[in-house]
Amino acid sequence: MDGNGRWARKRLLPRVAGHRRGLETVRSMIRSCIEAGVEFLTLFAFSSENWRRPAEEVSFLLDLFIRALENEVVKLDDNGIRLRVLGDLGGFEPRLVSLIRAAEARTEGNTRLTLSIAANYGGRWDILQAVNRMSAEHPPRPEGYSEELLGGYLALSFAPEPDLFIRTGGEQRVSNFCLWQLAYAELYFTEILWPDFDAQAFSLALESYAQRERRFGRTSEQVTAQKGQTPPRAIEPE
Ligand code: FPP
Repeated sequence: MDGNGRWARKRLLPRVAGHRRGLETVRSMIRSCIEAGVEFLTLFAFSSENWRRPAEEVSFLLDLFIRALENEVVKLDDNGIRLRVLGDLGGFEPRLVSLIRAAEARTEGNTRLTLSIAANYGGRWDILQAVNRMSAEHPPRPEGYSEELLGGYLALSFAPEPDLFIRTGGEQRVSNFCLWQLAYAELYFTEILWPDFDAQAFSLALESYAQRERRFGRTSEQVTAQKGQTPPRAIEPE
């Protein structure tokens, strides 16, 4: 969700006004995903590196998160949305952690859309915490570990692999987001700043996705011959 600060600066507003407006886009994206039949939406709200921002901005973002949890969880629940928060929650104050846990518990049974918010999250952190937890529970064996075993310890273990990655704001990098899971995702970059990313911009991203040929390591001819079959989910070299 990149570009909030620039959106605000263009309007001579403080950066935090861009974040406030960015939360509106989060609401509209949730609606668009439900309309499009998307079942899993994962948003990068706060990276492990975002603590380096000015203290007032960090504290504004955390407050925005707390207020969103306090005010919007009932709406999420009423709309059949399951909320998950990914990241190192040890970095947050206890009140925020209890709100997160309560919101996750309240919405656990919902199936229409799983909304995951990555907060104090980093892809490298995720892989490392998974390796540490896996090796604590499974002492090393001569045959080594498998991708499936490790996958079960990753923060997104409950979700299928992502199909589409969207980055707004013009930068063309992944910035430590879902490093493991993005192996076969289609990448989509747009200049549009996150507060301006509306339903029409989302449709364009979906159209671009629909035109991609997902080969999962196979040749184009094999894919054409197989059209209509479910693509394999296993990770294979290109
Ligand atoms: C990146 O834009 C955006 C963030 C670090 C914060 C994202 C947070 C929200 C959209 C609102 C809160 C969301 C929830 C789920 C409560 P930037 O500030 O780096 O923008 P810039 O590159 O233009 O400076």
